Amino acid sequence: MSIPAKRLEGKVALITGAASGIGECCAKLFAAHGAKIIIADVQDQLGQAVSEAIGSSNSMYIHCDITNEEEVKNTIDTAVATYGKLDIMFNNAGVADAFKPRIIDNEKKDIERVLNVNVIGTFLCMKHAARVMVPQKSGSIITTSSLTSHLGGMASHAYSCSKHALVGLTRNLAVELAPFGIRVNCVSPFGIATPMTADFIGLEREVFENMINGVANLKGVTHKPDDVAYAALYLASDEAKYVTAQNMLVDGGLSYCNNSFNMFKYPEEAA
Ligand SMILES: NC(=O)c1ccc[n+]([C@@H]2O[C@H](COP(=O)([O-])OP(=O)(O)OC[C@H]3O[C@@H](n4cnc5c(N)ncnc54)[C@H](O)[C@@H]3O)[C@@H](O)[C@H]2O)c1
Repeated sequence: MSIPAKRLEGKVALITGAASGIGECCAKLFAAHGAKIIIADVQDQLGQAVSEAIGSSNSMYIHCDITNEEEVKNTIDTAVATYGKLDIMFNNAGVADAFKPRIIDNEKKDIERVLNVNVIGTFLCMKHAARVMVPQKSGSIITTSSLTSHLGGMASHAYSCSKHALVGLTRNLAVELAPFGIRVNCVSPFGIATPMTADFIGLEREVFENMINGVANLKGVTHKPDDVAYAALYLASDEAKYVTAQNMLVDGGLSYCNNSFNMFKYPEEAA
């Protein structure tokens, strides 16, 4: 067994939604591990800044609205033309919507907007990544889903069903692409303070993190973008060469542990 210091040396990774938040953190971590990075986003100034921070010899920014098939196709073709191949397609771009507690208050256009970006956009990225990865007979496709793909009641109906759909898409594609040695997985965070959560929940970073820490199963640690980046780094690397069709929940165990029925409270905690 070889233990590489740089876990993505020689690989080419395209990350959508990498101008900000979790995607930005992943782009920087993947680059530090030796990958060439294509940052695909619609926030041009922020995307360029991430590329500059990584270094222009190892990264490039491309404007790409993932709901536009022509832009997705061109972005993937540019990545291959520039770096010769595509090893890692990380479908991280996503949107949330304002939370409306009652279904009768949710408009058709609101759910269509979220599904269009999170599901249709990701589908287009998967489709064009597969187009170039199948002839290569290798690749890792990773998608940022969410704990809301596993537990109900944690986000809007639109967001929750979009993230469930991504797990279904991932498992289906994992079967289709397995004969070509291409792995397809999801990574699913809990709640991390990013521009998305600030925009849609409207809470200051510290208030949001305190709220998440309060309901978290795992205590003494605050959920951050690098938790997702390190999980994605594993899924992207050859270390995960036998891992496909998984929804890797990065949630401090919340999806499987019911803390409200905790028989293991230490006496000093109960006091
Ligand atoms: N922050 C959380 O608590 C959390 C939890 C679970 C899952 N997620 C998921 O993580 C991913 C990243 O979110 P984040 O929290 O870093 O938020 P973020 O808003 O910081 O990043 C999302 C990025 O996606 C980009 N984007 C949006 N629509 C796009 C489109 N049509 N084409 C290309 N790019 C587009 C945005 O410009 C932005 O840079 C999302 O898929 C989100 O659903 C976030």
